Parts: sequence; C-alpha cells; structure tokens
Amino acid sequence: MRIFVLGGDGFCGWPTALSLSASGHDVRIIDNGCRRRIDAELGTASLTPILPLEDRLRAWREVSGREIHWSNIDIARDYNALRALLDAERPEAIVHLAEQRSVPYSMSSIEHRRFTVEQNLTSTHNVLAAQIECRLDAHIVHLSSIGIYGYETLGYRIPDGYVHVSMRSMDAVSDREILHPPNPISIYHLTKAQDQLLLDFYCKNEGVRATDLVQGTVWGTQTAETSLDERLVNRFDYDAVFGTVLNRFVLQAVLGRPITIYGSGEQTRAFIHITDTVRCIELALNNPPASGSRLRVLNQLAETQRVVDLARITASLVGDVETRFIDNPRKEPMSNELDVSNAGLSALGFAPKRICEGLLLEIKDVVERYSKRCDEGRLLAAA
Ligand SMILES: NC(=O)c1ccc[n+]([C@@H]2O[C@H](COP(=O)([O-])OP(=O)(O)OC[C@H]3O[C@@H](n4cnc5c(N)ncnc54)[C@H](O)[C@@H]3O)[C@@H](O)[C@H]2O)c1
Repeated sequence: MRIFVLGGDGFCGWPTALSLSASGHDVRIIDNGCRRRIDAELGTASLTPILPLEDRLRAWREVSGREIHWSNIDIARDYNALRALLDAERPEAIVHLAEQRSVPYSMSSIEHRRFTVEQNLTSTHNVLAAQIECRLDAHIVHLSSIGIYGYETLGYRIPDGYVHVSMRSMDAVSDREILHPPNPISIYHLTKAQDQLLLDFYCKNEGVRATDLVQGTVWGTQTAETSLDERLVNRFDYDAVFGTVLNRFVLQAVLGRPITIYGSGEQTRAFIHITDTVRCIELALNNPPASGSRLRVLNQLAETQRVVDLARITASLVGDVETRFIDNPRKEPMSNELDVSNAGLSALGFAPKRICEGLLLEIKDVVERYSKRCDEGRLLAAA
C-alpha cells in the first residue's frame, strides 16, 4: 500500500512509519518539525538523542535497504501543498498523527489554546477537504484520545464510540445510536472531540472512509525497528509538559528521586505500549471500513490503571524509592473509575501487552543509558 504518515517524525509516527516500511509498504512522512520547535520553545529535549529527520531516514535506508520519503509541509497552514501532494501520489491510506498532543501545553496560555485549536482542527479538516478535492478514496486513520469521554466515573463500560440512546423531547421518544457524548476537560481533548465530528461529517456526507482510534496514554520507547540502530531511536519525553506519567515515574526512580504523584493519585487512566500503538494502527490499515460505512471508532488501549498503582509498580522495579504526593497542577477530578472496551480492535486480532516488569525494563534500560541528558528541572510542572 502507498501510505502517508502525517506526523511521522513524532513519538507514535516514527515507529509507525518504520514498521509500515519494514512490512513492505511505500511510506511517505509528512511532518514540518513543529514538535522539535516546541522543544526549543520549552527549553527541553527528548531524553534519547533523536537525529534530524533527514539523518533518521538515511539511517533507515542503510539499515533496511528501504526508502521512506519525506515532505516538509505544515498541513494546518499549507493546504495547497498538501492537496497537490495527495493528488500527485494518490495514497491508499493516510495515518493522521500531526497534531499538538499535550494537555498542559494546550492549557498553558490563551496563545497555546488558540494554537492547539488551529493546529488540530485545521489539520484534520484540511486532510478531509483535500481528499474530496482530489477525488481520492484513501482510508484515513486518525489518532484521538480516551480523554474525549471525560474523566468522571460513568458506571458503565465505554463502548467503541457509539451508544444507544432514547431521545425524549415533548411527548416523543426516539431510539437512536449516536457518537458517545464527549466530555473534554482540556482544550486538547476538546479538539479531539471536534475532530471526531469532522470525520463523522465527511464519512456521512462525502463518502470518506475513516477510522478514529481513541487511544490511551502511550508508554515505552522502542519498537523492533527503532531498536535496530541507535540512529533510529524513538523520542522519550519526560518533561512536565509532554512527558507521559509512566515514563516520568521510571526516570525519577532511576535517578533516585521521589516519584511525584499529582493529587491523590486515584485518577484512573488508560494505557497502551508503543509497540501496541503501532500494531493497532496496522490492524486498522489492514482492515479498512467498506465504502459507504459510517465513521469507525475503535478504542485503543491495553488496560486502565490508577496513577498511584503505577507509582507502586515503578517503585518496586527499582527498589527502595520514595513516592511523594504533590498538588495537582491539572484541573481534573481527584479520583475516577474508568472502564473502556477495546472489543473492536480485539476482534481485529489485537492482543494487548500489559504493564509488567519485562516491558518496564525496556524503559529502565533507555533511561539508564541516557540519564546524563536529563534536565531534572524539567521533570515537575511549575507551581
Ligand atoms: N503520545 C500519547 O500518549 C498519545 C495518546 C493519545 C493520543 N495521541 C495522539 O497521537 C498522535 C501522535 O502523538 P505523538 O505522541 O506521536 O505526538 P508528537 O508530538 O510526538 O508527534 C506529532 C508529530 O506531528 C507533527 N506535526 C504536528 N502538527 C503538524 C502540522 N500542522 N503539519 C505537519 N506536521 C505536524 C510534529 O512535528 C510531530 O512530529 C496525536 O494526534 C496525539 O494526540 C497520543
């Protein structure tokens, strides 16, 4: 298949591009490097020494004998370049990962709110509009976040995207199946909820084929391909703005610092390992929706865990490490239960890897290897 990976220089996109290329697909990355510029803005960097994208691609060519092409296009702001490329190359599938993905970044100022809304909604709409203008029938696989469902205890297992409801108005009752109501608690999640409506609209009204993968927090670093050569290493974010919780905990533990838990630690979140993220994207690509289908929504998670339990698992991995509760810098419920079905992906063959010592050792190895590059001042959110 000819596949475009939008955001293919990022944490999920790079291993996805490599894996698809290794499987024999013809892969083109579209990425304008804005994530690297955000690192510069925040004064932080990946713990792992990620090479510039052109060097990563050269290394992949040398290691695998395969070519991944790259176009440096801002898909939110250069619609014409995106449309021209789609028209010229006519991919069969588009994996859309090119969005601003940090909750704290999206909430840090009015400017960052506006940037996140423009970046995420315009990029998704541009991909859909360009597809229509080019009369292209590429299957669009978009990455969303489980946070669109909200973090209140719901009392039921959240299904893959759609719920049956009885609508009551005046004297009438009508049974319908609708997209699960969104309940975002950040601007970032708000954009993901609105992305879903854009995808739904284009599937219903324009015949687009699309899958929305509603994903949990991704942990881990390396995949089979990124481990082949140090020049292919995946990025590892540990800072308070882009670092995800488990990666930060392992880094703190390895450095011998207290593991810092925001609030009570009784927040329950969904998790998935990076190798499973790549696997699920491939499963979605290999099993596209039929023409004329509604938007397909698949929850992409391996498990849910309470933050305090993750801290405990991490502490036991390293030995005697203190865990410390600090004021939660985020506006979120103190505690919640979260039960999310992954039946759709399981039916396609997804066999999730759960958080366990073996996989945590992978992060520990990465962290031990590169810990000298850590700027400890970046680990905690500003008060
Ligand atoms: N990492 C997670 O834990 C997680 C969890 C749930 C959902 N997701 C979603 O998965 C997707 C990928 O996440 P990630 O962690 O790889 O993020 P990332 O920031 O590491 O990668 C995103 C990539 O997209 C590029 N990009 C962003 N806007 C662009 C634009 N307008 N034009 C061209 N390139 C652009 C960036 O330069 C970057 O390389 C995102 O949509 C994110 O919301 C991620």
